[in-house]
Amino acid sequence: MKGVILAGGNGTRLYPLTKVTNKHLLPVYNKPMIYYPIERLVSAGIKDIIIVTGKENAGNFMNLLGSGKEFGARFHYTLQDEAGGIAHALSLVKGFVNDDNVTVILGDNIILDDISEHVSNFTSGARIFLKEVKDPQRFGVPEFDENQRIKRIEEKPKEPKSNYAVTGIYQYDNTVFDKISRLKPSARGELEITDVNNMYLEEGKLSHSFLKEPWLDAGTFESLLEASNILRERLNKTK
Ligand code: DAU
Repeated sequence: MKGVILAGGNGTRLYPLTKVTNKHLLPVYNKPMIYYPIERLVSAGIKDIIIVTGKENAGNFMNLLGSGKEFGARFHYTLQDEAGGIAHALSLVKGFVNDDNVTVILGDNIILDDISEHVSNFTSGARIFLKEVKDPQRFGVPEFDENQRIKRIEEKPKEPKSNYAVTGIYQYDNTVFDKISRLKPSARGELEITDVNNMYLEEGKLSHSFLKEPWLDAGTFESLLEASNILRERLNKTK
């Protein structure tokens, strides 16, 4: 299993915090945001990790993270020239993943569940991770049938068909790259990861799990502050 962290994109929702730096280098309580997805992958036993960033601050990622030795991992880096979408960013790591499976985490997602078992028992197809939320309109949202199987996933629906969000952690076999090559850009001009997940769904190869711990997406002012507060509280409890 290889690991991928997607840390490109423009971070426009956090402007001007992101005027001279990248969103994933901003602090979330006592660590840079990108430490959280890295630690999640490393603690699940994934040692080969590639970080996809935009051109502007690529050097800062290398200065901060280095070879990965400090984290007990091997880091690789690649660049996404323009923010062409999550699936576009993922397409850039085809050569790195090669014949392996891959666990992908969005760089602004803070996942507190231990995913070790999901990593060791993943064989093929795709797996997404769901969490109940108050504001599903902000996310990819699954629609369930009467047997609680996913019928379809909609990206940022105005009228969500459930209260669940598709979180920013995904597991794929290497057919993901062929699927991405068949995608067309969405109305917002991006290659959407939701379209990839729907392709697996159509093939009957999409499974899902539910996250048990709090899940934080630190991509807005409110969620960034909330993430810092929650992590501070959790850390103080364990002291
Ligand atoms: O956080 C979970 C949500 O993430 C999902 O529920 C949605 O289905 C999914 O589309 C995504 O929605 P967002 O609108 O939150 O995605 P955003 O554009 O904020 O990008 C999330 C991360 O992906 C960001 O931290 C960096 C990375 N990214 C994004 C784009 C557009 C890239 O690496 N390259 C890109 O071109």
